[in-house]
Amino acid sequence: MIKLDNFSSFFVANWKLNGNFQFIDQFINNVSLPTDNSKCVVICPTSIHLDYMSKNKNGFHVGAQNVSEYAEGAFTGEISVHSLSDLNISFCIVGHSERRQIYREKDKGINLKSKRLIENNVIPIICIGETLEHKEKGITKEILEEQLMHSIPSSSSFENSIIAYEPIWAIGTGLTPTFEEIDETHCFIREYNEKFNKYKILYGGSVKASNAREITDLSNVDGALIGGASLKSEEFTKIIGD
Ligand code: PGA
Repeated sequence: MIKLDNFSSFFVANWKLNGNFQFIDQFINNVSLPTDNSKCVVICPTSIHLDYMSKNKNGFHVGAQNVSEYAEGAFTGEISVHSLSDLNISFCIVGHSERRQIYREKDKGINLKSKRLIENNVIPIICIGETLEHKEKGITKEILEEQLMHSIPSSSSFENSIIAYEPIWAIGTGLTPTFEEIDETHCFIREYNEKFNKYKILYGGSVKASNAREITDLSNVDGALIGGASLKSEEFTKIIGD
């Protein structure tokens, strides 16, 4: 199993419902991995492309975008953690705000999914974040607290996990919190539970070449979760740096 402490920073590309075989070939040819191999670069293609990506990964790590809370059984259309393990997938995003908002996923299910992943040595990337309304009402910390409390499993073997803080109003909008706000929120997350000291905490939401360095250099930020900009080879190469 991958040990997160072996890496200094993490760059997770969330391709969402984009990409095909040709796109993957071009991406792998065009994006140069950093010479600094303490940087961990994870690509999360669609589930249909996980197998191809994992056979052609060429130094990239591979992650899924979702997993079922059930291990097996009559759950048509779901993806089991065992299928991810069969493909040697090491990471899986859970509780992305698009899953929470469009597919009505709740903290309890996200908790079960994360537990399922941890039990099977797949590293969960558990997403939390507030809406614009929450931010405007000044209740961001209460919302994050609620999500942290209920969506993160309290098992003993969960240190090797990742939390991604993604303000929903920053996703795909070009808007971001200030660097100070990002660092302060990450510090709040880390200090919320002493166990989170061992977690890696990534920031996501409109990360691009022009802000990636400053964000990932913040002292409480261990890396970035990147959506739109991860689909552009040149932009993504600049984000992961050399
Ligand atoms: P974005 O998406 O980088 O396009 O804002 C981030 C995400 O949804 O994880």
